[in-house]
Parts: sequence; structure tokens; C-alpha cells
Amino acid sequence: MNRVGLGPVGRVRSRVRVPGDKSISHRALVLNAVAEGTATVRGLAPGADVGATLGALEALGVTIERLGDDRVRVTGGAHWHAKQPIDCQNSGTTARLLLGLLASRAPAPVTLTGDQSLSRRPMRRVVEPLRRMGAEIEPADTLPLTVTGRPLTGAEHHLDVASAQLKTALLLAGLAADGLTMLIEPGVSRDHTERVLAAMGARIERREREVRVRPGDLTALDIDVPGDFSSAAPFLALAAAREGSEIVVEEVGLNPTRTGFLDLLRAFGAEVETTVVVTEPEPYGDVRVMGTKLSGIDVDPEIVPRTIDELPLIAVVATQAEGLTRVRGATELRVKESDRIEAIAAGLVRMGADMEMAPDGFDIRGPTVLEGARLDAAGDHRIGMALAIGAALAQGGSTLDGTEWIDVSYPSFLTDLVSCAGVPVRV
Ligand code: S3P
Repeated sequence: MNRVGLGPVGRVRSRVRVPGDKSISHRALVLNAVAEGTATVRGLAPGADVGATLGALEALGVTIERLGDDRVRVTGGAHWHAKQPIDCQNSGTTARLLLGLLASRAPAPVTLTGDQSLSRRPMRRVVEPLRRMGAEIEPADTLPLTVTGRPLTGAEHHLDVASAQLKTALLLAGLAADGLTMLIEPGVSRDHTERVLAAMGARIERREREVRVRPGDLTALDIDVPGDFSSAAPFLALAAAREGSEIVVEEVGLNPTRTGFLDLLRAFGAEVETTVVVTEPEPYGDVRVMGTKLSGIDVDPEIVPRTIDELPLIAVVATQAEGLTRVRGATELRVKESDRIEAIAAGLVRMGADMEMAPDGFDIRGPTVLEGARLDAAGDHRIGMALAIGAALAQGGSTLDGTEWIDVSYPSFLTDLVSCAGVPVRV
């Protein structure tokens, strides 16, 4: 396990660029793999999660040429093989998307495995609706799971959770199913899949929480992946929570189904400006956050799906805001790469935060002058990054254990944090 020492920072004024979006990268690879033709993906996310999807698709017979560090050429229409087993590592997106992909396309039984964390995460939410379409997947609750390709029939799904991974798995199945597949989500989850599918010529219709897809061929699509909003968020949190700071993140994805975090920073009282330079198929541009005096907020459960991966950072910012911050309706945090409510509370309470956990969220009373402490990423990239920001805001030095987990989405995060914010790091 890697441990680094992290020191506090003062006011930060800086600009930063972050690597490509992880969610869009997974989709750019998987959807081009099932499309007709060849496409180039530029700005691919560098982390291990997208590496797991790349490796899985290659093991299944998809041709992927590496053109450079963040550039690949994908040739779709593969003759699917089944090299066994397929290791999805730590990546929930890889596992869930592959279930939908293989439900009709696995030429022989294919087993999906994952690391310890992924092997604990819920898969029944994907398996049950796929089975209703005719899929053969055994068992159902957790990995390892074995999928045998079967002819599928479209179905109407009323989903219990707003999850873009689940939605994408069902859309992938629906593209190869007989008849109409319809999904109704309880809230609006990220819509990258729908955007890419529409641009590839899929017969897809969307209205708020409802998506319909009919079977049909896709045309390969070149994709320029914008910077990952979730990788930008730690820098934006730091700027918001340190009064007098200002950070600009350049060329970052600003898809409204991802940017609930900006609405929450505004509600805390931070100044936030966005300049969208491109709108289709994915909006992106620059975002500037300026830190001022913050006041605690009540986070509406409706916004949770639009900021699910940033809620650990909301906890960090809340420690610096005057009064009570309350988050509810976020049970999903319990089944991410770690139990993110437990993991962020463990770190922040060690630093002296006044934080109480709830089954589906947390309460934090601020402001607190955080004290440097011994912190643990808890096997979770987002917790590692959020606690690094906590350490930067604290008084005195901290240590962070498990920094290797940050490589799952953003391997150069600590280096970028040093260059952007001058955070002292000791390895
Ligand atoms: C993702 C969707 C979200 C998110 C995850 C990436 C995706 O998960 O937490 O980091 O790329 O579809 P859920 O779909 O389970 O909410």
C-alpha cells in the first residue's frame, strides 16, 4: 500500500486541465465495439477502470489499436470470442455494461470476475431485468457471473434505482433484442449513452426519465472525450472551501446530468461561472469557482443522481460552511467502490469534523478547522481524492494511505494537485 504525506495549502489561484471522462470513455469503446466500421477515440480516460474495459473488449475479439497514450482506433462488428474469464477489476461500469452487451452476444458461456470490492457490489439490479428479456445469467447477486448469449425480447422496465450503468446495460441489450425496449428511471441519471447512441444512428427516443430503443445497427463514431467533471470536482471543491481562492478547470465536460455539484457549490455561496464552448454531442467548456464565506445547505434528494460521485467532496466542503449541511436520499453511496458514507466520515471525523451518518446520507455542522490526521482511501479512488482535499484544507500535515487506488480514474491526480495548488506532498 502506498502512503503519502500531504500538507496544508493557503489561498489557491490556478488553472488546471484534467484527463478524459471515464464514463464517456467506457461508452466510446463499448458502443463502437458493437457498431459497424472503425472509429477513433481521442482523450480516452487514463485510469485502470477504462483499462479494464479495453482489456475485456480485446478478450472478446474486438480489434483495438493503440494510436498513442490517450488515443485508440476501435473496429466494431467483432466475431465475439469468449476468452475466459473476463476480469472487470474494480470497475462497476465495465461489469454492468458487459452484462448487457453479452446477454445476446456471448458465443459461449462467459464468466465475469472482479476484485474484492467489485465482487461485493450489487448485480441483481442488472441481472433481473436482463433475465426478463430472455438473458441467461447465473447466479444473480454478485460477481462472478456467467452469461450465455440468448435471443432477447424487448421489455418495459420500471427501474428501482437511477443508475446509468443499469440503464446502459439494458439499452445495449435492447439494441439487439426483438421489439421495443423501454426504461423508466426513478430519477435522471447521466445520459452519455443516449447521446452517443443518437449520434451513432440508433432508433432511440428520450423524454425526461423515459428512454425507448428499438433494435438496429449503429454506425461507428469518432469521439473526442472531454475532461472528466468528476476529476475536476476535487479542484473546484478546494477553490470553493478556501476563501479567496479561484480555480479554473479548462475543457471539462459540462453535461447537465453530471454537474449537480456546481448547483450545490452555488447553494453553499461559492461563485461559479461556466463557459460552454461545444454543446453536441457532449457539452464541455471551462468552469471557474471562487471561494467565499459558505453557509450549510440541505441537499435535495432529487439532485443526488446528478452529483452521486461528488458527494464525498460535498462532505469536505460542508466542514468549512457555517451551519448544518444535510444530505439524504443517497443510499447508493453505500454500494460504491467502498461504503462512501462510512469511508468519508471515518476520515473527516479523524480530522475533527462534526459529522453524523444517516442510513442514506449524513449531517455535518461547520465550520471546523480541520486537523491533519492519518487518513485512508479505503480502497476507493473518490475517497482518496476527497480526503486529499480535506488534508489540503487542514491545519498541519496528514498522511493518506492507499493512494494507489486513485489510479482507478486519475493516476496523475496528486501530481496535478501539487502543480495546481502547491499542496506539499511527501512520498
Ligand atoms: C457511472 C455511473 C454511476 C457512477 C459511476 C460511473 C457510469 O454509477 O457512480 O462512477 O459511467 O455509468 P451508477 O450508474 O451505478 O449510479
